[in-house]
Amino acid sequence: MKAAVLASGRGSNLQSLIDEWQGGSLPVELVGVGSDNINAQALVRAAKAGIPARAFLRENYSDKESHELDILNWLEELGVELLILAGYMRVLSPSFIRQAEYPVVNIHPSLLPAFPGLHAQKQALEYGVKVAGCTVHFVDEGMDTGPIILQQTVPVFDEDNVDTLSERILKVEHEIYPEAIRLIVFGKVKREGRKVTIYRHS
Ligand code: GAR
Repeated sequence: MKAAVLASGRGSNLQSLIDEWQGGSLPVELVGVGSDNINAQALVRAAKAGIPARAFLRENYSDKESHELDILNWLEELGVELLILAGYMRVLSPSFIRQAEYPVVNIHPSLLPAFPGLHAQKQALEYGVKVAGCTVHFVDEGMDTGPIILQQTVPVFDEDNVDTLSERILKVEHEIYPEAIRLIVFGKVKREGRKVTIYRHS
């Protein structure tokens, strides 16, 4: 299955996917990495791994529609069958999602539906939750509202700050994102409306 990744920044989730792919434990072909940020470390990581990397800078387009259209065309040229958002910090429009003829998945650093949007870890700390975590979900036309594939919890400690909590969550992100992708590629994920069922043993 040909997969592409969109990432806006550091790209540690991308790196964990690259590591698993190169180690033979991620059964996809990573055919492209796109970014809306020319300085994204994700682009450097892709280039180092020999994956075609391309920046789509928002300022080079007159509007969101033409920006997204260019990305969609590029994904089509690549023959993408799965689109993986890994820290892509721009919300894809409903029109993008409707036009994408392949599943789009995302990872978010909270236990959705709690704390969607930006600064999820800060939101969680300010709310005072005792358990936090991350979510892999299909992307639908809303923001962080799509059907949930996998979630993983982490504890929140009294002495946590945004950095310590983010680091603890990130560690489990790097475990559940490759796992979710494996399950999808192996046909173990069935999506019916909002409900996603995982068939691990069939
Ligand atoms: C990750 O924590 C990811 O869950 C989050 O951005 C970070 C990207 O880190 N994504 C979102 O908040 C999306 N709403 P990375 O660039 O090191 O993978």
